[in-house]
Amino acid sequence: MVQGYWRLDDWQMTPQQRLSFLKSHIDLGITTVDHADIYGDYRCETLFGQAVKLDPSVRKSIQVVSKCDIKLVSEAAPNRKINHYDTSYHHILESVDHSLKRLGVEKLDVLLLHRPDALMDADEVAEAFTTLRYHGKVAHFGVSNFTPSQFDLLQSRWDESLVTNQVEINPLRFDVIHDGTLDQLQRLQVKPMAWSCLAGGELLTGESQQAVRVRETLSAIGEELGGASIDQVIYAWVMRHPSKPLPIIGSGNIERVKAAKQAYDLKLTREQWYRIWVASKGHNVP
Ligand SMILES: NC(=O)c1ccc[n+]([C@@H]2O[C@H](COP(=O)([O-])OP(=O)(O)OC[C@H]3O[C@@H](n4cnc5c(N)ncnc54)[C@H](OP(=O)(O)O)[C@@H]3O)[C@@H](O)[C@H]2O)c1
Repeated sequence: MVQGYWRLDDWQMTPQQRLSFLKSHIDLGITTVDHADIYGDYRCETLFGQAVKLDPSVRKSIQVVSKCDIKLVSEAAPNRKINHYDTSYHHILESVDHSLKRLGVEKLDVLLLHRPDALMDADEVAEAFTTLRYHGKVAHFGVSNFTPSQFDLLQSRWDESLVTNQVEINPLRFDVIHDGTLDQLQRLQVKPMAWSCLAGGELLTGESQQAVRVRETLSAIGEELGGASIDQVIYAWVMRHPSKPLPIIGSGNIERVKAAKQAYDLKLTREQWYRIWVASKGHNVP
């Protein structure tokens, strides 16, 4: 599992509390942290870096993932008129330099292209990756929210394996199971990273008919599994897929992170897995 830091700014923690949270999930064995340049309107990496600065020795215990290519309208970029994507050589290099500075680290373990850019020139991206590798600024590269053909295109120009495609997987939204995305990753033996496994909390609190149906089923299966919580059943459902997704935990509550970790001990039967599928779709399998 991976700890996500998208919502770090919302957690309202002091730098010391951020450091304690980080050390607590490291103690649980969750040592990979997921960031992006844009999180918290370009603030989250800095907030994380402030915590690491309090005890720089934690750096050697973590693997840092960050992302680039989304350009947000922001006070941080006053001349930008609309949100858009940018996978140009210049932007990738500049974005990584900013991330390293904000995070206070010398190197990213993984850099992901955050969203597919319609204007992506795969040769240009590979050139940027080569420069970043040469200068020791990034160890490994991957993508996020890519279709299989976009993944193939970039892989055709890059001389190492792309290490992941980070995609949304949860019982409300799992298109990637059916559109070839996870088939491709299983074929390549590349593990997906799964974002918003709890659908951003919607699965716990949402009132749509679909959310209520799925929640009731998750709850019943949790009982069958000896009292597992709804979120634990969701993580077990995500990890049950043979492409071996790595769930990214979005919670800033360490008790919820601990509970998530225990989902490794749960194994859903095929029938339990499909009951959640059916509850989500609202109809039986064909
Ligand atoms: N690549 C991409 O495009 C992309 C997109 C989105 C996210 N991500 C990554 O994926 C990570 C996880 O995404 P996410 O934050 O959307 O994950 P998530 O786990 O689906 O949602 C987390 C939210 O659910 C709430 N929650 C958790 N347990 C709850 C409960 N029992 N009852 C009510 N609310 C509950 C959390 O609140 P508490 O903090 O109070 O527990 C938090 O606000 C992000 O941090 C980011 O790193 C990547």
